[in-house]
Amino acid sequence: MSTIIITGGAGFIGSHVVREFVLKYPNYKIVNLDVLTYAGNLANLKDIEHHANYTFVKADITDANHVLQIFEQYKPDGVIHLAAESHVDRSIVDPLAFVMTNVIGTVNLLNAAKTIWKGDFEGKRFHHVSTDEVYGTLGEVGLFKEDTAYDPHSPYSASKASSDHFVRAYNDTYGLPVVLTNCSNNYGPNHFPEKLIPLCIHNVLTNKPLPIYGDGKFTRDWLFVIDHARAIDLVFHKGKNGDSYNVGGFNEWQNIDLVKELCKQVDEKLGREQGTAASLITFVKDRPGHDLRYAIDASKINQELGYKPSVTFEEGLSQTIDWYLNNQDWLDQVSSGEYQNYYKKQYQG
Ligand code: NAD
Ligand code: TYD
Repeated sequence: MSTIIITGGAGFIGSHVVREFVLKYPNYKIVNLDVLTYAGNLANLKDIEHHANYTFVKADITDANHVLQIFEQYKPDGVIHLAAESHVDRSIVDPLAFVMTNVIGTVNLLNAAKTIWKGDFEGKRFHHVSTDEVYGTLGEVGLFKEDTAYDPHSPYSASKASSDHFVRAYNDTYGLPVVLTNCSNNYGPNHFPEKLIPLCIHNVLTNKPLPIYGDGKFTRDWLFVIDHARAIDLVFHKGKNGDSYNVGGFNEWQNIDLVKELCKQVDEKLGREQGTAASLITFVKDRPGHDLRYAIDASKINQELGYKPSVTFEEGLSQTIDWYLNNQDWLDQVSSGEYQNYYKKQYQG
């Protein structure tokens, strides 16, 4: 395997995947294909941007001709597809943007791979990075398994479910060699402050309310982003053709408990009186169609590929908070401009 196109490599998870591959595989040529939406930021890759095996190409995956031209130019043996519109709340406001990038964009990439590989699939692989949200919501018990029926509720999860179906259809219909990963909620450095954890860290630092939707009893299964990148590396290289793998941390938290833990750690790190950050917690109007609980059964990737997360949640959260405390210029940069309009509409509109 010599050339790999990673889409969405300037985003949160993509930047960690790009770094993992650039540093671990000096013999691979890594091409980061990203259009740089509000969520894409080349500052996430400053430390590796001059490596000889790394190239950035600015392109929109909804532009089929441009995508094909890039595939013809770089002739990738592998594709790791992360580019997406990724925020549920934005999908409620503008579903079509999610259809365009997540569905049409994915099909454009599948077509480009099919065209340049011309039926010769030896050593080729298309890895589609997806989410546990395609499975819908769980009640108080149970876990998502790879064969759990799809039941998406938000425009975001519906668009990701659709893209997963197209990826499998290209495997069944054209024999395109694919693997899929469906991962739980990620957290870690470089996370855009529209998602719960970085939004709360940012708001504590700027002394703004910490908005908790509904009663705060909604439950998510959290995985450190670098552990997701490691899982992608493993499945990309060792996963079985046509298979999907659920990735998670067996680490469920109700939102309110998670935010209280975060507040406790931030107060400790800033040497402030306990309760200072938590006093900002504010219950706000619930998200429409809000899924109650996500939880992943990650036993397949563990048993078949030997995967285990490398950090506990306490360690990962502590590292994450430290990163934001030490990179407040990154936060200031991404939260200026468009973010201010988004924030006003979402939380004050
Ligand atoms: P993100 O929003 O931080 O980054 C998305 C990246 O895709 C950005 O760099 C953006 O510029 C790029 N992009 C968006 N539209 C594009 C387009 N039309 N053409 C080219 N590039 C485009 O997202 P993330 O949180 O890093 O998620 C990455 C992937 O992982 C997504 O496919 C998401 O569905 C999946 N996922 C995310 C989570 C999570 O907790 N964040 C969990 C499981 C799966
Ligand atoms: P989020 O980080 O948006 O991820 P997802 O919706 O993909 O799970 O939200 C995580 C949980 O936190 C979810 O139950 C919604 C909730 N939430 C809040 O309570 N307040 C907020 O301001 C945000 C952004 C999310």
